[in-house]
Formats: sequence, structure tokens, C-alpha cells
Amino acid sequence: MLDLKRQYAPLHEELLEAVGQVLQTQQFILGEPVAAFERAAQEQLGVAHAVGCSSGTDALWLALAAAGIGPGTAVVTTPFSFFASVSAILRAGAAPVLADIDPASFNLSPAAVESVLNRLDVRGVRAILPVHLYGQCADWGGFFRLGQERGLTLIEDAAQAWGAEWDGRKAGSLGDAAAFSFYPTKNLSAAGDAGMVTTNRDDLAERVRMLRQHGMRNRYHHDEVGWNARLDGLQAAILHVKLKYVDGWNHARRTVARRYHALFRAAGLAECAAYPAHGVVLPHEVAGTRHVWHQYAIRTRRRDALRDFLSVRGIGSEIYYPVPLHMQEALKSLGYAEGAFPEAERASREVLALPIFPELREDEQQTVVAAIAEFLS
Ligand SMILES: Cc1ncc(COP(=O)(O)O)c(C=O)c1O
Repeated sequence: MLDLKRQYAPLHEELLEAVGQVLQTQQFILGEPVAAFERAAQEQLGVAHAVGCSSGTDALWLALAAAGIGPGTAVVTTPFSFFASVSAILRAGAAPVLADIDPASFNLSPAAVESVLNRLDVRGVRAILPVHLYGQCADWGGFFRLGQERGLTLIEDAAQAWGAEWDGRKAGSLGDAAAFSFYPTKNLSAAGDAGMVTTNRDDLAERVRMLRQHGMRNRYHHDEVGWNARLDGLQAAILHVKLKYVDGWNHARRTVARRYHALFRAAGLAECAAYPAHGVVLPHEVAGTRHVWHQYAIRTRRRDALRDFLSVRGIGSEIYYPVPLHMQEALKSLGYAEGAFPEAERASREVLALPIFPELREDEQQTVVAAIAEFLS
């Protein structure tokens, strides 16, 4: 599914030197390694503030808490994402409200959000939290309009979308604030857990910095109850090195995605429909966006059998996500029943993410597509 050794091999010396530097200076938590990475990240994304933190989950919580989302408020998000998109809302003390996805992009649908906002029984909504799923920006035109019309805060879950763009603007610079994850499988990855909040709002940046250090503005003077959500110097040093390469890696991911498209079409497997019949529905780049292909997720009918077939042949694949969030045991208390979000539920039965990473070779992709062709025949 992912061979990180291929990324590490050419960077080995450079990474060791960066790590060695931190060991020499002993700046293990925050300090200059983190500040230097934050400055470089700000510049690359074109945002006013980038604040490193301990994980993508903490970045979501920090962004929500800094924006004043807490008890008595509600946040609208998607049922088709990683668990943290919803659990961070609960951790902030707010109520998650879900709306269905657009079946073509798998992203939260602005139209579905609008109908949820129009419901009389939905009260207290203060924010929308769209996820840029699989590396493609959510429909920001729609969310921006809703935010303006209804006075709502927009928080991007950009965990999977470092470098992605919507209408020429980078993910992380679109909303009031954004959360990134540098979990080792992400497009820009640490050697452990790490995350970042980005924002163009000075007030939010200041609050995020305060909340990531137990609510301290001045040492041992706690203005609010924050948390320990700081970024390590070692992770920042590693991320700072990798930041120089991530544009190139995203470019390579785009090439890999184009090659999959071509191979599936050449094999006669690609179906031009919203849902699969006998072949596969390919993922696509929505007009006006720049997809960074964190995942290449096809849709197919006999998905589980296909996954077993590939696995027997030593081909990795993954299901992101097999259980929509409203059907998770831990989120039963949200009160949604099966059938509440038909598009998310259907996607969870049909999606299969195929191997994709910058160093994936064409012959390996041919093997993947040939195996899928054999299964479907
Ligand atoms: C969409 C999404 N949101 C949030 C997170 C949480 O990030 P982390 O694992 O760094 O806490 C992830 C990553 O796993 C993710 O994919």
C-alpha cells in the first residue's frame, strides 16, 4: 500500500543531520526547530500563521476551541471521514451534526449542509467543518457562501491535503482555521505523531498558541484550561526537511493517478457513472481544484471480494472508511440510524483505496490493474 523506505532512502543523510542538530542544541519541545518549520510552512501555504502541535486530532481540537466552539454550540461535518473529524468536536464540548456527502468527490456536500441548517430542530450551529478527503478540497465556493450568509466559522480538516488547492488557493488558507496531520502515512509526514493549525486570523493564532501550552500566555500563569498539545523539535526538524520536497512528491502523486486512469481505461474497466455496475468508477479531480492524491479510491460493487483477491496476490489496498461515523459504536449517542446518510453508507460499501505514493512504479501499477481486470473478468 505504501513503501515509506523509498522516500527515506534519498533523504537519509539530510534527515540525520537535522535530527543531530536538535540533539546538539537540546531544543526538544517548541523552540527554534518548531518556529523555523512554522515559518517555512506559512510561506509555502501562503497563510499568516502556522502553529505546530502534537497531532492532527489535537490540531482539530485546537482550531475549534480557539474559535470558541464549546458547550452549547454545534458543528456540521461529514459522516465519511476519519473518526477524529467528529471526536474533536465532542472533545471541544460541542455537538456534531452530520450531513451527507457528494458521491462524486466523497466530500461533504454544501447542499446537504444547507438543508440540515434549514431544519428547525437543528439549533446552535456555529461552524462547518468540511474535510478535504483523499487529498481533494471540499467545494469551498459552497461553504464560503454558507459561512457568509449564516455567519458561521469555517474550519478545514486538511489532514489529508497538504498542497491541495481550490481555485488557486492552498488548503489551509481557505477557512477561518485549518488542521493538518503529519501522521506517517500522510503526504507530508513526520516520524511519529505531529500536526499543525493554520489561520489567517491573528486572534485565532494567538489563542491556538496559548491553548497548546496549557492555556499559558505567561509562564505558569494559566488564563484558560488548555492542554499539552506541543510539537517536538525532532519532528519539526524532520518535517522542515521534507517540506522542501513535498511539492515534488505531490506532483509525482498526480502522475501516478493519471497513470491509473489511463491503465483502467485501456483495460476497458472504467465506468463513466456515479456508481459502479460491472467495472470500476475512477476517482476524479473536480474542476478548479488541484488534487494531491493522498488516496486513489475506486468504487466497485464486489469490493470486499476484490480486496481479498488482491491480498492473496500480495497487493495492498485499504478501505477508507468501512463504517460511516454515524454508525460507529462510540457515536451511537448522536442518535442517527442506518439509512440517515445514504451516499456515505454506499461509499463505505464500495470504495477501495489502491496503492499510491510518489515512488510507485508504472510496472507495479500495471500489476495492480491487471489483477483487478482478472478479478472482474
Ligand atoms: C481526515 C482526518 N482528520 C483527522 C485526522 C487525525 O490526525 P492524527 O492521526 O494526526 O491525529 C486524520 C488522520 O488520521 C484524518 O485523516
